[in-house]
Amino acid sequence: MKLEVARAAIKYVVPNSIIGVGTGSTANFFIDELATIKDAISGTVASSVVTAERLQSHGIEVIDLNNVKEISVYIDGADESDKELNLIKGGGGALTREKIVAAVAKRFVCIADESKLVSVMGNFPLPVEVIPMSVSYVKKQISKSIGGSPIIREGFTTDNGNLILDIHGLKIENPKTLENKLNNIVGVVTNGLFANRGADILLLGTPNGVETISPDFL
Ligand code: A5P
Repeated sequence: MKLEVARAAIKYVVPNSIIGVGTGSTANFFIDELATIKDAISGTVASSVVTAERLQSHGIEVIDLNNVKEISVYIDGADESDKELNLIKGGGGALTREKIVAAVAKRFVCIADESKLVSVMGNFPLPVEVIPMSVSYVKKQISKSIGGSPIIREGFTTDNGNLILDIHGLKIENPKTLENKLNNIVGVVTNGLFANRGADILLLGTPNGVETISPDFL
């Protein structure tokens, strides 16, 4: 299913433009598909070091975001999506760079297998990237004003040199409010809720083929 959605995403690749590329196992399938049409694009912006390395191993150019005028489309996976295409991302720890590339891109196409679509998000622990010296303060603030159980991701450092707190046990009824509240805690770099900038299109792999979900059609 991941391979099928990765293939389906190729038709959203805008020729002669810069493509934003996500991180994770589904995005990896997309990178391998993108390699087959690499001469049709102008280059890519990667959302993580590991994605940059995979793109380069295929001979696909990776450009620094600061040297790019425009990203036509960002293609990436997700850990959970609701029907409005609010997402939880960051299971791989790349949430901050993913959020930056998604913010710049004109369009965000999310690719996922059907297990990722849920009615209320929160079963997947919500990742929060935190400046190392603030971990214990941020944990206390989350317990006090957000709820859930923030647990440090052991032995993991982000590409930006920070740590991840995964918040377990949330029921996310209002994703935008929660995204903003968490980002207001001093020491939080960003969190894995993509609600203020969710996906524009979700390509969902099912046993019966790829479904295209767009909130415009709801
Ligand atoms: C990486 O930090 C994440 O946001 C991934 O996009 C997400 O975890 C989806 O990964 P899979 O495609 O491996 O499920």
